[in-house]
Amino acid sequence: MSKKRIVKFEIYRYDPDRDERPYMQKLDVELEPTDKMLLDALVRIKNDVDDSLAIRRSCREGVCGSDAMNINGKNGLACTTNLLELKEPIVLRPLPGLPVIRDLIVDMTHFFNQYHSVRPYLINDTPPPRARAPADA
Ligand code: FES
Repeated sequence: MSKKRIVKFEIYRYDPDRDERPYMQKLDVELEPTDKMLLDALVRIKNDVDDSLAIRRSCREGVCGSDAMNINGKNGLACTTNLLELKEPIVLRPLPGLPVIRDLIVDMTHFFNQYHSVRPYLINDTPPPRARAPADA
């Protein structure tokens, strides 16, 4: 049976409205046995330790990519990263190469502009089928 445990974190912090420059915040966080993934730990930190931490999340299933960050030097998704596989201290930084809005949140505007410019979907030249009237059915 699992029990509570203390996990060491070092988290990149930067609030342009408050901080002159970025810094690394060191935290010892008590996690519950139910905190299995890195995203669980970040939510625990935000709810129980420091509600000023800015993170993005949405699907919790590795689909949306909103919780992408640099985890111990490798880019990954917090929701699909097993806490037990991470070496301590767990060092979290925003994705590299993108402007930081705040803490672990980066500005994805440039990425999405490029993404849309390559039109990453199938383009069909066939006209759509004519809608059937209910009487045709
Ligand atoms: Fe959507 Fe992690 S929350 S990919």
